Amino acid sequence: MTERKKVTIPYLFKKVANNEPITWLTCYDYPTAYLQEQAGIDMILVGDSLAMTMLGYESTLPATMDDMIRHSQAVRRGSANVFLIGDMPYMSYQPSVETAIRNAGRFMAEAGCDGIKLEGGAEMADRIRGIVDAGIPAQGHLGLTPQSVSSLGGYKVQGKGALQAKRIIDNAKALEEAGAFCILLEMVPDRVCKIITERAENCIIMSLGSGPHAHGQLLIYHDMFGLYPRFKPRMAKVFGNAGEVILNGLKEYVKEVSDKTFPQPENWFTITDEEYDELTNMLD
Ligand code: KIV
Repeated sequence: MTERKKVTIPYLFKKVANNEPITWLTCYDYPTAYLQEQAGIDMILVGDSLAMTMLGYESTLPATMDDMIRHSQAVRRGSANVFLIGDMPYMSYQPSVETAIRNAGRFMAEAGCDGIKLEGGAEMADRIRGIVDAGIPAQGHLGLTPQSVSSLGGYKVQGKGALQAKRIIDNAKALEEAGAFCILLEMVPDRVCKIITERAENCIIMSLGSGPHAHGQLLIYHDMFGLYPRFKPRMAKVFGNAGEVILNGLKEYVKEVSDKTFPQPENWFTITDEEYDELTNMLD
């Protein structure tokens, strides 16, 4: 395993200062985390999107804190040096500041995360402030916020109109002022993302489908490798069709077991003739 230094917040800000884009992916399991660590990914998000990508639900809402902790622990075991973000699931922070702090603390204490992310703008600034005051690095998430998909009317670009764009810009400032060290902009027009990035003073701006002007990029791992069967968002680039490779392998397995070409001697274990004879003598 290639060793590298632990990714820290100062390291991420150094990348920003040097104009080096930050790399960020979702991840939900140990073997994928291991590969992402080897590839040199800076940040991993254990997203509540796992409700969809891993558990097959239609939205992110059914993800529970226990789901998130279990998957975050697995990811941490596979990627010791990545900056690991736990995504706060639906209703783990909305009810109150105290609920938010307690659940953010679980990500840190039980899963070894380096910080948390939550969705929402100025209305969630007190949650961000409380979490940061508790010593936990916090990220905001603006634009298309999947936990509010019902009120947003679907998975749509946010901030296409000037008024809505202005609201996103104001919300970004409110989150930064509340202490968020990073904000994810999901499906926000590129020029709106550019304004927010230029105005950020002490905050890293990340893009998911929001263009090239942010300080870095996030993609959903399952989208970039053809591993999510229901749909592929337009913004996701497929970097390799692992889904197709796996499907072809599965079909081949079905064929080889059916036509008895699998297994071959290298795929099974044997007993010595001596032991075998002794065994058969013991049988009736
Ligand atoms: O849950 C998740 O993966 C996310 C992304 C959609 C940004 O929050």
